[in-house]
Amino acid sequence: MSAGAGDAAFTGSIPEVYERLMVPMIFAEPAELLAAAVLAAAPHDVLEVAAGTGVLTRLLERAADVRLVATDLNAPMLRAAERRSTSGRVTWQVADATDLPFPDTSFDVVACQFGAMFFPDRVQGYAEAGRVLRPGGLLAFNTWDRIERNAIAETVTDALTAAVPEADLAFMRRTPHGYFEPDRVVADLVEAGFTTIGVEEVDGTSLSTTAEAAVAFCQGTPLRGEIERCPGLDVERATEIAEAGLVARYGAGPFAAPTRWLQVTARRPG
Ligand SMILES: C[S@@+](CC[C@H](N)C(=O)[O-])C[C@H]1O[C@@H](n2cnc3c(N)ncnc32)[C@H](O)[C@@H]1O
Repeated sequence: MSAGAGDAAFTGSIPEVYERLMVPMIFAEPAELLAAAVLAAAPHDVLEVAAGTGVLTRLLERAADVRLVATDLNAPMLRAAERRSTSGRVTWQVADATDLPFPDTSFDVVACQFGAMFFPDRVQGYAEAGRVLRPGGLLAFNTWDRIERNAIAETVTDALTAAVPEADLAFMRRTPHGYFEPDRVVADLVEAGFTTIGVEEVDGTSLSTTAEAAVAFCQGTPLRGEIERCPGLDVERATEIAEAGLVARYGAGPFAAPTRWLQVTARRPG
């Protein structure tokens, strides 16, 4: 399954809800692990692509000796990231990861948290990372495992599909959870010229409340656009349906749910 039209549209009110509710729930934990992999390489020049509202950027900018360039396709996401950045050491630039505006061999590490699933051509995205990396440089990124291993996304998607079966509300399954087979990821990296590829499956825990998780998914991701395009459905009703699905699974209020992702590292040949 490949990304659909609008799947990369993190715009409008989405960045604010995304940063406030999605990031603490499911993005902060993987960011810690990815930042550790990046900083273990002791890089001087790091390029982050698909930086979003900057959860990984904020961890990387703590390293005082790193020159950090943070990029994203969507200016509203990057503006939200810049507002929260405190070091003054980050260069912010709107950029498509599959067509990078940087010279060859200019970075030691390219980092990307949960962005590859959105690239219209992933091999092209990896090839661009390889082009801007120095020989021996590190590409470090992550991608969500299948939706059945990520309980909140599954519950919200199933609740909406059951309530409005005629609607096309497959964003979560199609894109964030549509690129999870390790063999496919490795094959794409090999095609893009990478070697020394490592894929680690990581289990984590999402903490939220049923009300906030429903708002997060229905209003803080491009699922919102899909809901708005759906005749007979609106964002408020969809959020109620999602919350009811979560309450049926976890009971009302705070809950913990399993999550799983792949953390991937690969080297540009030296
Ligand atoms: C799920 S968010 C992840 C954001 C951030 N890395 C995080 O961990 O919170 C996906 C991000 O990919 C960005 N994106 C989608 N397609 C892109 C592309 N072709 N090039 C660069 N960024 C892209 C979106 O704008 C969005 O910010």
